[in-house]
Amino acid sequence: NAHRIAVIAGDGIGKEVVPEGLRILETVASRFDCAFEFDHFDFASCDYYQQHGTMMPADWKARIGGHDAIFFGAVGWPETVPDHVSLWGSLIQFRREFDQYVNLRPVRLMPGVPSPLANRKPGEIDFYVVRENTEGEYSSIGGKIFPDTEREVVMQETVMTRVGVDRVLRYAFDLAQRREKKHLTSATKSNGISITMPYWDERVEAMAKAYPDIRWDKYHIDILTAHFVQHPDWFDVVVASNLFGDILSDLGPACTGTIGIAPAGNINPERRFPSLFEPVHGSAPDIAGQHIANPVGQIWSAALMLDHLGETTAAEAVVRAIEEVLARPEYRTRDLGGNANTAQCGKAIVDALTG
Ligand code: NAI
Ligand code: MG
Repeated sequence: NAHRIAVIAGDGIGKEVVPEGLRILETVASRFDCAFEFDHFDFASCDYYQQHGTMMPADWKARIGGHDAIFFGAVGWPETVPDHVSLWGSLIQFRREFDQYVNLRPVRLMPGVPSPLANRKPGEIDFYVVRENTEGEYSSIGGKIFPDTEREVVMQETVMTRVGVDRVLRYAFDLAQRREKKHLTSATKSNGISITMPYWDERVEAMAKAYPDIRWDKYHIDILTAHFVQHPDWFDVVVASNLFGDILSDLGPACTGTIGIAPAGNINPERRFPSLFEPVHGSAPDIAGQHIANPVGQIWSAALMLDHLGETTAAEAVVRAIEEVLARPEYRTRDLGGNANTAQCGKAIVDALTG
């Protein structure tokens, strides 16, 4: 009963950091009681587009839909394929077709990573942002009337369904339940957005009744962004609608350092479809081919994937190995002010895991 993983390296530094992630997973398999079967796919990349004229083959869903997870690098090569074509032809398809309604991003201050927030020590910032990934403010309902006249009007509706809101809240409460602090924070704006956001609040309150041991609170999104910067130690699990979650899931990792280490999960919690795990960064054309990319974002994504697959002990061990290595200046890549290359940093994490 090996975990079946679809591996898609994609473009640019995706092809350099994914092998480091796989090396960690192979080490995990040899150290812990678990096994993986990796299937590599060349689609969802701009190279594939150049050969075939599309980002993915027509039967892509059948080819990866039966896997337990997708381990993804990065997609995009703006020199040859416009970004909206590469992104909409790949990642967005995965999110929609595989109903990955949770976007999960850990926010954790690691040793050795300079945080733009002053006087913060590792251990003080350790929380998750849970973003609703399928509905809310990002609906395509709306339009423009009287175009190109002085009477021009544009509208775009926010769509919240009870099923859609409740399922992401349930995921967030469940996550809080598994954590020590058992604390959930909801992002709202019910003072300004007077229909959908009070509904969101109402569903949070209803859901909270099923989790009596969880302490929960809510903040309006404007002050919440300030608290992320000034009081990041207040948070444990933060749940938000699509738009607010988009903002918070960039702000959180930005408060804890470089884009080169941040991971993300696009998750279908029921496992009816594969979930996708990827670093937050893109294909970094400016450093691609130089083998200096930081592999930590990809390796941390492997830890998120392990957690999703139920391999929690291994997941924790990988995060500890990352912390151990980041604390040592000689293994830091250039984005962290060091001289190590991608493979040296990756190998150090493998050694920390086995050592
Ligand atoms: P980017 O994340 O690729 O790069 C931004 C900056 O961060 C660059 O200076 C890059 O060198 C640096 N950087 C990124 N990852 C790094 C790492 N692991 N180690 C060291 N430095 C790193 O974002 P950019 O330049 O806006 O986009 C480049 C391409 O990637 C575009 O085609 C874009 O559409 C795509 N992209 C894809 C994403 C994905 O696959 N999920 C996410 C973001 C962008
Ligand atoms: Mg974003």
